[in-house]
Amino acid sequence: MTFDKIYQYNFPTTIRFGAGAVKELPAYLQQNKLKAPLIVTDPTIAQLPFFKAIVSDLQNHSIAVEVFHDIHKNPVKSDVYKGADVWDQTNRDCIIGIGGGAALDVARAIVLRINHREDLFKYDDLIGGDVYVTNDVPHFITIPTTAGTGSEVGRSAIISDDETHQKKILFSPKLLAKIVFADPVLTMDLPPFITAATGMDALTHNMEAFLAKNPHPICDGIALEGIALIKDALVPATNTPDLQSRSKMLIASMMGAIAFQKGLGIVHSLAHPLSSLLDTHHGLANAVNIPYGMQFNIEGFEDKFRRIARTLELKEETGEAVVNYLFDLNSKVNIPHKLKDIGVEEEHLNILADLAFADFAHPNNPKPVSRDDFRNLYSKAL
Ligand SMILES: NC(=O)c1ccc[n+]([C@@H]2O[C@H](COP(=O)([O-])OP(=O)(O)OC[C@H]3O[C@@H](n4cnc5c(N)ncnc54)[C@H](O)[C@@H]3O)[C@@H](O)[C@H]2O)c1
Ligand SMILES: [Fe+2]
Repeated sequence: MTFDKIYQYNFPTTIRFGAGAVKELPAYLQQNKLKAPLIVTDPTIAQLPFFKAIVSDLQNHSIAVEVFHDIHKNPVKSDVYKGADVWDQTNRDCIIGIGGGAALDVARAIVLRINHREDLFKYDDLIGGDVYVTNDVPHFITIPTTAGTGSEVGRSAIISDDETHQKKILFSPKLLAKIVFADPVLTMDLPPFITAATGMDALTHNMEAFLAKNPHPICDGIALEGIALIKDALVPATNTPDLQSRSKMLIASMMGAIAFQKGLGIVHSLAHPLSSLLDTHHGLANAVNIPYGMQFNIEGFEDKFRRIARTLELKEETGEAVVNYLFDLNSKVNIPHKLKDIGVEEEHLNILADLAFADFAHPNNPKPVSRDDFRNLYSKAL
């Protein structure tokens, strides 16, 4: 690690973490004189008992709730516009996102849209659109229900174009939640597949952040502890969940997202095209690709892999041992080792490699990745 300029490090979000934390929500709203939240979630969560309990708890405290849940699995621009219409029609005073990464992304994009009414993709960070995020935004609260993306502590939202399915990133420090209520009880009944896939996403965030090339020892420390927590908790959370394993996964997923302000890397660039082209779940796409991406990164970064191996308490402190650990972990949580098992075919590889090379994540990878490197890695993983 070399320090050669002035860096900015931010860690601003207030997090109320622990079993029962969500019960503090009505009192928090009352203290902040908020009486009419727009709750943004997805259609599945809207039907779950814990969600209905949150809504009735608010209503019992004379808080006028409006729920918007008309969103896609991989959210699109029209979802955001519809949510903003509900805000306009119902006289709301704050926004509460409740859900996994998809619902929280839509909630955050609606937060942006309320006082920024030009075309949503004018604010796309990849074309420098963050400079147009100049107005105030509504009071924003997040409540995660998966332990994966860590989007609850993030300041970006990934929203796709309805027609082209191209992913855009809306980003601004203004889009940080004012407070997160992170309650592991809400994740208790996550099905094993979602637990495994989202948990592997969290592991990928922590590992890629630790390896990412910008000097950021604060994030490095957080990332290694996140890896240690996931080592202990992902298998039990998936196969024999209890409150301790769910708690560890929930905090580790937030640590991953805090750490990846440092940057991500090759694995996320391998994963993103699978979601845009084949609608693969984001966590599953990372899970299948992470052993191959990490194998690519070992040479030249043996020291960093030694530290990851030590954190994982592996017998051999090498990059190869880390890669073997990742294959083994995927087996333990029922994630396949090969891309062909999740619907990828030989004919997809060229377009996948083009999209991966164009992706925004790999410029922070510890070493450069070419379009042919991506093609070779997909081929190996097929
Ligand atoms: N903004 C960011 O920084 C960022 C980073 C990575 C990914 N993402 C986005 O996040 C999304 C993926 O998020 P995710 O992995 O959390 O998945 P998700 O939000 O798509 O949720 C996965 C599934 O789990 C269900 N679910 C959620 N909570 C549940 C619960 N407690 N019990 C039962 N079922 C539950 C959902 O209804 C959904 O069907 C993608 O759209 C991706 O683009 C955003
Ligand atoms: Fe991710």
